[in-house]
Amino acid sequence: MSSGARNAEPQALPADEVHVWRVELEPSADEVAELARTLAEEERERAARFHFARDRRRYVVARATLRRILAGYLDADPSEVAFTYAAAGKPELARPSAAPGAGPALRFNVSHAHERALVAVNWGRRIGVDIEWIRSIEDREGVARRFFSEGERFDLETLGEAERGVAFFTCWTRKEAYLKATGAGVTAALDGFRVSLLPGEPARLLETRDDPDERDRWTLAEVPCGEGYVGALAVEGRDWRLVPRTWTL
Ligand SMILES: CC(C)(COP(=O)(O)OP(=O)(O)OC[C@H]1O[C@@H](n2cnc3c(N)ncnc32)[C@H](O)[C@@H]1OP(=O)(O)O)[C@@H](O)C(=O)NCCC(=O)NCCS
Repeated sequence: MSSGARNAEPQALPADEVHVWRVELEPSADEVAELARTLAEEERERAARFHFARDRRRYVVARATLRRILAGYLDADPSEVAFTYAAAGKPELARPSAAPGAGPALRFNVSHAHERALVAVNWGRRIGVDIEWIRSIEDREGVARRFFSEGERFDLETLGEAERGVAFFTCWTRKEAYLKATGAGVTAALDGFRVSLLPGEPARLLETRDDPDERDRWTLAEVPCGEGYVGALAVEGRDWRLVPRTWTL
C-alpha cells in the first residue's frame, strides 16, 4: 500500500481515549520525498532553513506524519490540515472538527528526540507530550539546579548513580509534558511545580505551588517509547486512558 493510500485510513477515537503515536524519523529517501509533498509552503521554508540534512529530514517526517495522523481523525486530506499558533508557539488545528461546530475540538501535541517522535491526540482535553533520548549530560546537577524544584532535586539525590540518569529524564519529560499541555512553554516557572521521578513511582503532578488545585486538574502518564527513550504525557482531567499506537509507513 502506498503511503498516499494510507492517508485516507480513518481513525476512530473514542471520547475517553488518548492516542499516543510513536513515529520513527529515519525512513528511506523515497518515503521522505513522498511525505514532503503534503507540507505547506511555510513548512517547506522552515525545512529549508535547517543547517543539517538529518535535522531537515526529521522535521519533514515529523510534520508530514503529524498531518497524516490528524487527517485520519478529521477525515481530511493531509495537505488540507491547517495549523494556528497560540501565544507561546503551541500549534493547534485551525479547523479542529470533522464538521463545523461538531462537538469538541481535536487536540494534539508533538515531541521529537533523536530518531523518534510522539504525537498525542484526543478530543477536547488540553494535552502535552514529551520524549527524551537518554544520554549523558554534562553538568547534570547544574541543569537540575536551574530547572528542577527543590523536592525534585531532593528525590534525585536519594538515588544512586545507576538510577539517577534515567530519573533525571523522567523528571524532565514529566515537567515538559505538563508545560506543553498548558501551552506555557519556556515562559513558565519550572521550579513552581513538582513531579514524581523515583523508579517505579507512577507519573504524577505532586505539587503546584501558586495554585494548589492545579495539581488535581491534570493527569500525568508514562509513555512507553522503547529502549533508550523516556516519554511522558499530561492531559487535562482524569477520565481518560492512554492507548499507545505505532505509526508505520
Ligand atoms: C518548545 C517547547 C515547548 C518544547 O521544546 P523541546 O522540548 O525542545 O521540543 P519537543 O520536541 O518536545 O517539542 C517541540 C514541539 O512542541 C510543539 N510546541 C511548540 N511550542 C509549544 C508550546 N508553547 N506548548 C506546547 N507545544 C509546543 C511544536 O509542535 C514543536 O514541534 P515543531 O517545532 O516541529 O512544530 C519549549 O517548552 C521548550 O523550549 N522547552 C525546553 C525548555 C526547558 O528548559 N525545559 C526544561 C524542562 S525541565
